[in-house]
Amino acid sequence: GTTLGASAAEKGRYFGAAIAAGRLSDSTYVSILNREFNSVTAENEMKWDATEPSQGSFNFSNGDRIANHAISRGMKIRGHALLWHAQQPPWAQNMSGSALRNAAINHVTRVASYYRGKIHSWDVVNEAFADGTSGARRDSNLQRTGNDWIEAAFRAARAADPGAKLCYNDYNTDSINPKSTAVYNMVRDFKSRGVPIDCVGLQSHFGTTIPSDYQANIQRFADLGVDVQITELDITQGSNQANAYAQVVRACLAVSRCTGITVWGIRDSDSWRGGDNALLFDASGNKKAAYTSTLNALNAG
Ligand code: G3I
Repeated sequence: GTTLGASAAEKGRYFGAAIAAGRLSDSTYVSILNREFNSVTAENEMKWDATEPSQGSFNFSNGDRIANHAISRGMKIRGHALLWHAQQPPWAQNMSGSALRNAAINHVTRVASYYRGKIHSWDVVNEAFADGTSGARRDSNLQRTGNDWIEAAFRAARAADPGAKLCYNDYNTDSINPKSTAVYNMVRDFKSRGVPIDCVGLQSHFGTTIPSDYQANIQRFADLGVDVQITELDITQGSNQANAYAQVVRACLAVSRCTGITVWGIRDSDSWRGGDNALLFDASGNKKAAYTSTLNALNAG
């Protein structure tokens, strides 16, 4: 293939980008998006604060701008994210107990129902585990409603949109470490008890190197019977960036259940990581060396 999306498709995968509704009027941005990518994730527009700014009152206007662009172009949509400790609307931030639990599950039901049939995969729960070596859940208002909040969210999402793959998504879970093992144990438990879960998202926000056990970690999740998606890829620019992007592609292609890769933005200037220049296109929209190495890795073999 001659584009990221077409080359990934030849390998039975998708290649996506996180996009922002506010940039859909930027012609350079949109031309790269339409040429190169066959999946999108809303960088912010489908989050709780954006979609339910006051309790029970939903606003899908910016999410729909992204969804409509994707649908009109035949792109898949990754839904991001139904429940997360961050980017909650102010009204939810100050709730607790059963009132918060009910509000959270209602949020899952309403948003997943609204987009029913349009979403390839939902990040049902994002970043619910603590950093470090504890393997514990992250403390949050959602966690304080009871340890079963994650499975309740997945069950509600399944009921609302039975056709969407339901993912758990996190960062610093890319290598085999106490945090990723805690996620692994949760997924194994969910599979054994019939809690609906279909995929694990490895965000893959990297510095200059890729963990040596990245592929092995992808493989161990796949062996639990879930798909693995690389959901928010970006890699600090330096002398190794092009090589590192190729390593990520090779690791995913080596695991049949690694079904797609999403980069967290299009141009370096679109990235939340600013000066890291962590993406595949420069600020002018030119292809970087990392683009070429990514494309070549997708086309290899
Ligand atoms: O919407 C307001 C806008 O009204 C205001 O004028 C502007 C001024 O700063 O801020 C806008 O909100 C910002 C929003 O991005 C939209 O641009 C927030 O301040 C800013 O905090 C927010 O950052 C996002 C961040 O999540 C929030 O946690 C980033 O764009 C987004 O890339 C980032 O994405 C997360 C994933 O969802 C989860 N994994 C980590 C990843 C990177 O942090």
